[in-house]
Amino acid sequence: MLSIQTRLITTAIGVFLLAWLVSKVISSTAGWVTAVICLSILLTYQIWHASKLSKILLTPKYDDIPRAMGIWGEIYYRLHKLTRAWRDQVIDVEQQHQRFIQAIQASPSGVVMLNEDDQMEWCNAIAGSHFGLNARRDALQRITHILRKPAFVQYIVRQNYRDPIRLTNMGLFEEYTLDVQIFPYGDKQKLILSQDVSQIEKTDAMRRDFVANVSHELKTPLTVLSGFLETVQELNPSPEDRERYLELMNTQTGRMKTLVDDLLTLAKLEGNPEPPISQAFNMSMLFARLKVDAEGLSQGHHQITFENKTDKNILGDESEMYSAFSNLVFNAVRYTPEGGKIDVVWEDTDSGAEFSVTDTGPGIAEEHIPRLTERFYRIDRSRSRETGGTGLGMAIVKHVISRHQGDLKIQSVLGQGSRFSLTLTKLRLSSAMSSSQKLN
Ligand SMILES: Nc1ncnc2c1ncn2[C@@H]1O[C@H](COP(=O)(O)OP(=O)(O)O)[C@@H](O)[C@H]1O
Ligand SMILES: [Mg+2]
Repeated sequence: MLSIQTRLITTAIGVFLLAWLVSKVISSTAGWVTAVICLSILLTYQIWHASKLSKILLTPKYDDIPRAMGIWGEIYYRLHKLTRAWRDQVIDVEQQHQRFIQAIQASPSGVVMLNEDDQMEWCNAIAGSHFGLNARRDALQRITHILRKPAFVQYIVRQNYRDPIRLTNMGLFEEYTLDVQIFPYGDKQKLILSQDVSQIEKTDAMRRDFVANVSHELKTPLTVLSGFLETVQELNPSPEDRERYLELMNTQTGRMKTLVDDLLTLAKLEGNPEPPISQAFNMSMLFARLKVDAEGLSQGHHQITFENKTDKNILGDESEMYSAFSNLVFNAVRYTPEGGKIDVVWEDTDSGAEFSVTDTGPGIAEEHIPRLTERFYRIDRSRSRETGGTGLGMAIVKHVISRHQGDLKIQSVLGQGSRFSLTLTKLRLSSAMSSSQKLN
């Protein structure tokens, strides 16, 4: 294809040749007239296309190429190629930008970008909920005008961003505890990263509470024990008193042992993998053992019935399930006053099977029910201690049943009694027939 310059030069030469030929054949005046006419036509053509081009440049269209002869066809074609290449580049950059934005939006951390004047340029949705920001509404607002927490303002002013700061009570709708750190970048711009550490904070608080609770629970019997030991050593009591003190000391060591046993059970439940669903244990044997233990604990003070209405066995860990069942039955025995009734039932349900303990005890007020499975949560601390409770029983029950994909339900009416039930789905059950085959 000929270049634009060559075409222009060729056209000019063509016009001069034609004019020269006319001047030779007709007259020199006719030659001049021919040259003027040809050049005028060419000039008009150029002016018309030039104005058309200026219009096109004002509002370029990518797919509409005007047709034209000669160099203008070539110019339009090149312009079209150029605008298409630019458009492709712009689309490419836009797509990269979109992908970048999507990646930052997907990040679990909050991201806020500040310009050199500490004004917000952009933030992702997580930062929006962490700080109560709106990327559009707050754009180009000074960050210290939007985020006025003194700790944060000091942090940004101090300009020492080596370590993050922890901000509590953040967020508009949710209460967040955030670790926030600033990273300077580019030309005095800043990136603020925020991370939700509410859960870590909660776990830390729980751990602290737990250690405090355990220490407190151990301290009481230890104080009593050391008091008795001193008395026995220093006062040299009579053999009867000595016997009584030893018995009381025995009760205290028993309490500590139960507490340590429950703590170890909980630790085991947390540390061990979920019980496999391949092994079934015999529910009627476990039921019989529960009955003997419950009657032993009650000492004939309650009317206790045990009804095994299904032949279903449980696919899971026998000692864990015994621990859960016995905690519920022993609680019923401990908290139900003398003469009360306790019904223990193992039966089929539509979705699987249910183990329930119903008592005619004191019942539980509604506000306590959701908290019963918290460690060391007791409604009546002294009553629980009197009956040898540790406050860990329901936490163990909850752990065990969720490790077997089951549910714990508590229904109670204050002053009338309670019903605790553990439901297991079919996944964790096998009928006696098939489990006996499995057991063999
Ligand atoms: N059957 C029940 N009737 C009334 N209150 C109960 C019953 N079972 C549990 N509770 C209440 O729930 C609390 C937590 O139970 P649990 O975790 O087993 O601890 P504890 O060692 O005190 O028995 C008990 O302290 C008691 O106040
Ligand atoms: Mg208990």
